[in-house]
Amino acid sequence: MEFTETAATRRSVHQYSDEEISQSTLDAIFEHVTLTPSGYNLQPWEFLALREEETQTALKAVANGQEHVTAADTAVVVLGNTDPMAHAEVVFDDWLAKDYIPNQDVRSALLENVESMANVPEAERRIWTTRSSSLAAMTLMYAAWEQGVASCPMEGFDSDALVETFDIPDGYEPVMLVTLGYPPADAADIENERKGRRPVEEVVHYEAFEPSETTRVETPDITE
Ligand SMILES: Cc1cc2nc3c(=O)[nH]c(=O)nc-3n(C[C@H](O)[C@H](O)[C@H](O)COP(=O)(O)O)c2cc1C
Repeated sequence: MEFTETAATRRSVHQYSDEEISQSTLDAIFEHVTLTPSGYNLQPWEFLALREEETQTALKAVANGQEHVTAADTAVVVLGNTDPMAHAEVVFDDWLAKDYIPNQDVRSALLENVESMANVPEAERRIWTTRSSSLAAMTLMYAAWEQGVASCPMEGFDSDALVETFDIPDGYEPVMLVTLGYPPADAADIENERKGRRPVEEVVHYEAFEPSETTRVETPDITE
């Protein structure tokens, strides 16, 4: 599927068929997810993929009882590591090995930069990890849809309860949930006309920013 088609036809889907997503398809999807860009390439994301009835039921209980959590083949908790230093050394070793940075001094300077990012209040680090991890969630949805696997992003969950239920260690932010599954042949969600979007001229501001009034949403026709 061309990206334009993937983007144009993706929908948030609540209904899923019983068809199982094979492990190799999930692997292919997550392989693409790892290509997501991140600040300093620090890749703060982790994914807790729930495929068993028991774990999905536990997730549903902390996700406002949303039915698609258990209807899905796989429910993914996108977690963001709030420690920018977590993978920094390994990442900068790779940069050095590939001559992306010239020497150890630059590597050390980069590590110092990242360390200063790690020494900010937790609230700021949570925002920091949410930026890159949210991009990973978007890649997950597009990579899935390219394989014919539908998805739904979800913010409707109790973060503290999720952390407790799944024993998530300190330092990880539950950023988003993403349900994954093949849509049934007659999935109303997929066949629905796209939900309206605010038009380009009301959301894009060249050179200077002045909030514009929202006058309408419309159905973009992006086919090529
Ligand atoms: C950050 C975020 C949180 C969302 N939370 C939920 C949710 O908790 N439950 C749900 O059913 N859909 C949720 N959605 C899906 C939106 O309702 C959906 O993306 C939006 O209506 C546009 O529809 P579309 O994705 O089909 O284009 C969420 C989407 C985003 C991006």
